Amino acid sequence: MSHIYIRGGHPLHGDVEISGMKNAALAIIPAALLADDVVVLENVPHIADITNMIQILQDLKVRITYLDEHTIRIDSRGLQNQALASEAVHKMRASYYLIGALLGRYGKAAVGYPGGCNFVQRPIDLHLKGFEALGAKVEVGDLIYAETDHLHGANIFLDIVSVGATINIMLAAVLADGETVINNAAKEPHVVDTANFLNSMGGRVSGAGTDRIVIRGVKSLHGANYQIIPDQIEAGTYMTAAVITKGDVTVRNIIPKHMSAITAKLVDLGATIQEFDDAIRVSVHGPLSELMIKTAPYPGFPTDMQPVFVAMLSLVPGSSIVTENVWDNRFSYVNQLVKMGADIHLDGRIAVIKGVEKLTGCEIEATDLRAGAAMVLAGLAADGVTAVDNVKYIFRGYESMIEKLRVLGADIWYDGDEQNQPVVVEGKIG
Ligand code: EPZ
Repeated sequence: MSHIYIRGGHPLHGDVEISGMKNAALAIIPAALLADDVVVLENVPHIADITNMIQILQDLKVRITYLDEHTIRIDSRGLQNQALASEAVHKMRASYYLIGALLGRYGKAAVGYPGGCNFVQRPIDLHLKGFEALGAKVEVGDLIYAETDHLHGANIFLDIVSVGATINIMLAAVLADGETVINNAAKEPHVVDTANFLNSMGGRVSGAGTDRIVIRGVKSLHGANYQIIPDQIEAGTYMTAAVITKGDVTVRNIIPKHMSAITAKLVDLGATIQEFDDAIRVSVHGPLSELMIKTAPYPGFPTDMQPVFVAMLSLVPGSSIVTENVWDNRFSYVNQLVKMGADIHLDGRIAVIKGVEKLTGCEIEATDLRAGAAMVLAGLAADGVTAVDNVKYIFRGYESMIEKLRVLGADIWYDGDEQNQPVVVEGKIG
């Protein structure tokens, strides 16, 4: 079994370029199927989840061409709308966007149940209720079937703020007949990015970024060129890596506004933050102090940053308290940090983290994507060598993490060869 190894104790220094946002790209690539013509997407991250999504589209006979390392051309004019039940569908949560996109464009979708990170049961009832409100008949059997001969606008209220349901309903509603309103909508940057992309193809979506999104259905969408926004969580991970190693790192190619909840917490902690137009510099010069964090939908503190912050707080003096409000059970990785010497007590959705003097390297497991990043960060700060197992999760969502950390001065290496770096071949993914 291959591992990522880290010999800790090297403060990170320098600049790191942030890639395109995974969770925006995973929505926007399926959204491209709604267009009548070719779509070109720039700033697409090179990660396993994107390769997987592309494979699913290729099963539908969509032609995907890499124009350069981060630019793809999607030509869905020959799409054959068939049932999607491959392993690739089950591997990934975001395959649910294919239901909204295919239903919106063809009035029919049959897609396997989405999988994804294994930290918790992740229902999609709000997505399915939304499709039903738009006039689709939905059945859940061996696959999820959604079908209608008339998609129409609807007034929808989401019981829970859900990023996926908000985006999926937008995808299904953009070509529907009439006006759809999503109340209690998610406001995440990738919701806004997907709405902007739909509008760049001629869609009429307004209010994205607020809790009330209005979608006025249009007859068709045309092709577009669109650039995906930078990854807020990847940027936050490197900012946290700067702090845990007591280094000095500038994250570049970001949108600082998207980072507000994270930078505010790093300032409270005692880190020094300098903001630029499209970069943030994080450094540590004095003592750090305990924090209280509650995860919440945007603009609150992102749940996807929770594990890396817990890793960092395990070395901060005092008692920090982290409450997970978005997912039911997102602390399953904590026992890995405890193996390294962290002092963390769990009580349901609350973690109490008493800062320890040091973590000690040992063999630990990446239990999901962000937990995997947390393990790497813990390894960067630990005494000795940390071996992180199950690193396929990390490659799902972080582009070239090992190389990026190495450039910043980390002593990190990988003994496998399955890092997700798809070979760029005109017309197909090698
Ligand atoms: C997205 O998941 C992200 N994934 C997750 O990132 C992220 O943790 C999450 O949003 C919250 O920000 C993708 O974008 C692919 P939700 P999503 O619907 O959209 C409940 C990562 O590490 N819920 O906003 O699937 C649900 O159980 C991943 O990059 C329902 O009850 O999350 C959760 O408690 C992990 N019914 C809450 O809502 C539903 O139908 C928020 O989930 C849908 C959701």
